[in-house]
Amino acid sequence: MVLYFTGTGNSRYIAQELAELCSDELVSINRHMRQRKLDPYNAQYAFQSDLPFVVVCPTYCWHVPEVLEDFLRECRFVGSSDLYFVLTCGSGTGQAASHAKELCRELDMHFMGLSSILMPENYISLFHAPDADEAVGIIRAAKPQLENISLQIRSGHQIRDSYAGPGMPAFLYRLFYKLFVTDKKFYVKDSCIGCSACAKLCPMVNISMKDGHPVWQGHCTQCQACIAVCPVDAIEFGRRAKGKRRYYLFADGRQKFPKERPLSSSSQS
Ligand SMILES: Cc1cc2nc3c(=O)[nH]c(=O)nc-3n(C[C@H](O)[C@H](O)[C@H](O)COP(=O)(O)O)c2cc1C
Repeated sequence: MVLYFTGTGNSRYIAQELAELCSDELVSINRHMRQRKLDPYNAQYAFQSDLPFVVVCPTYCWHVPEVLEDFLRECRFVGSSDLYFVLTCGSGTGQAASHAKELCRELDMHFMGLSSILMPENYISLFHAPDADEAVGIIRAAKPQLENISLQIRSGHQIRDSYAGPGMPAFLYRLFYKLFVTDKKFYVKDSCIGCSACAKLCPMVNISMKDGHPVWQGHCTQCQACIAVCPVDAIEFGRRAKGKRRYYLFADGRQKFPKERPLSSSSQS
């Protein structure tokens, strides 16, 4: 079973491809996270599969995202006890593999390794997203690595991290989270059309609509989904994202502004 968490679509894309290559089931953790907040009594907490479990997610500060770790701690995995991690990243995953191994111990699952795949940077509150053509190039370059990972998973082998590095000491990581992973600086401009795309997409159900405009509730994980998906770029994060290109990869391979560019024809060869 391939389970994915995503902010801006990269990890969904990788999970879709992996599920297809492994002929396995695809499950959206975002959908389950939202359901746990909106309707906890009817939400799903157990996942069953005889094939290994594969978790695909973005790298946040050289770690598996904290909100995802919390989600997994509340889950029960039935059937296979093997768990793989595939992390999408903008540049590197630091020591994410050793943290993921520790998490597996907590979950009583067998750690089958972590592999990272370079995808377009989405963290526009701090960095820059690549332009549409560059993004297509990065996504296309991921294909051979994906095929290799799927081969390893199908044959039950361990996988290894290609973009590991020194990472960040635990105290710095906590400080970073405290200082930067906040929604305090999100605001909406007059150009907001009140479509509520941001609120509907937020995996944390952290955005409510008030007088036709989004309001952030303080439980943000900075996944960038809201700022990236807004169809009129009306969402800003302080001054940091001003004038920067927003990056979002839709499930059908379409990219957002400035130039919509499907992955299909050109990238599937
Ligand atoms: C809060 C935050 C922290 C991030 N930290 C890292 C990081 O430590 N290393 C890295 O290579 N990329 C980092 N990124 C970039 C994303 O991991 C990368 O763009 C990923 O593919 C986004 O996946 P998604 O589209 O599924 O959300 C970070 C992004 C965000 C939003």
